[in-house]
Amino acid sequence: MSDTSKPLIVVAGATSKQGRSVTTSLLGSGKFRVRALTRDTASAQARHLAALGAEISTGALTPDHWRGFEDAFRSAQGAFLMTPPVAPPSTEEFILGCRLAEAAVEAGVEHLVFSTLENVEQRTGGTKYAPHFTDKARVADHIRTLPVAHTFVMLSFFYTNALEYYPPRIEGDTTLMPFYLPEDFRAPFVDPTTATGPAVLEVFSNPDPYLGASLPIIGEFISPGEMVDAFSRVTGLKAEYRSAYSRDGLLTYFPELGENSLLVDEVLGMAEYAVQFGYFGNDRDMRWSRTIDPETLSWERFLSVTKWRGGRVSFAG
Ligand SMILES: NC(=O)c1ccc[n+]([C@@H]2O[C@H](COP(=O)([O-])OP(=O)(O)OC[C@H]3O[C@@H](n4cnc5c(N)ncnc54)[C@H](OP(=O)(O)O)[C@@H]3O)[C@@H](O)[C@H]2O)c1
Repeated sequence: MSDTSKPLIVVAGATSKQGRSVTTSLLGSGKFRVRALTRDTASAQARHLAALGAEISTGALTPDHWRGFEDAFRSAQGAFLMTPPVAPPSTEEFILGCRLAEAAVEAGVEHLVFSTLENVEQRTGGTKYAPHFTDKARVADHIRTLPVAHTFVMLSFFYTNALEYYPPRIEGDTTLMPFYLPEDFRAPFVDPTTATGPAVLEVFSNPDPYLGASLPIIGEFISPGEMVDAFSRVTGLKAEYRSAYSRDGLLTYFPELGENSLLVDEVLGMAEYAVQFGYFGNDRDMRWSRTIDPETLSWERFLSVTKWRGGRVSFAG
């Protein structure tokens, strides 16, 4: 089969943690071509994806770039769409997600896979504030109205949050690990850099059973206390849990968040939502991603593979 006879999948945010996993899995399968969208074709990640065989295409994921989206989706059969992190009060995420999907449909894309989350507004009757969940759910609602086959994936809390956004603090011989969840609360966590791709590859390879579905991607259900114990086991370092499951706790360990009080509200709203209502709706299939990808990383395996020892890690570029 010549290369151009393989279906082309556009990956929006291809250098993101999710996007690079999707691009790597799709190309690695030998079944698909990938057009990778990035703002910076010269970045190390973009060059890495090009070396794997991706076609690199320039484009920012901002709503005002929407005229460029249609070209980006031209002649593609499928598209994986994700939205970059946004901080409140921005409401750009909803508009961006809708415009990406509309442009893909306009360009003739047949199957969209959008990375969404639950509608916290609806599930909590408006009592918890987590717009970066709800806005993704609203994008999914919009996609359901478009004339296109669609499937949604829903990522768990990222393991990488502890490396990238909420790193530990070293005090003496102890690694203090602050979490925005209670010490003994088991939540779904995942490594987005390795787990997203296998799930999305399965959906594009075998679409029919997944049309219209919303599929959680889970590494394991684990509590912060268990994560700290695993960190000690793997690294040999002394480590202790610290609570960032309150405004005071969050601002003690991450004072820079104080510059945006709405962001503090959102982190706390998301955490309280997960604890009180469950991160995923009760009707979701919590086994699916681990069944199709039995090699998915537990937190302990993630620590072994990454050799992370508690420092801040950047996944950009
Ligand atoms: N953290 C969690 O626990 C968690 C859990 C579930 C879902 N999520 C969601 O996952 C999404 C983030 O995914 P991720 O962590 O995989 O992304 P990421 O690693 O932060 O990467 C975002 C990518 O977006 C691209 N981008 C394009 N235009 C951009 C713009 N205008 N501003 C910023 N970035 C832009 C960047 O690529 P270029 O520089 O190459 O253009 C960048 O690689 C968010 O929507 C978040 O809510 C997060």
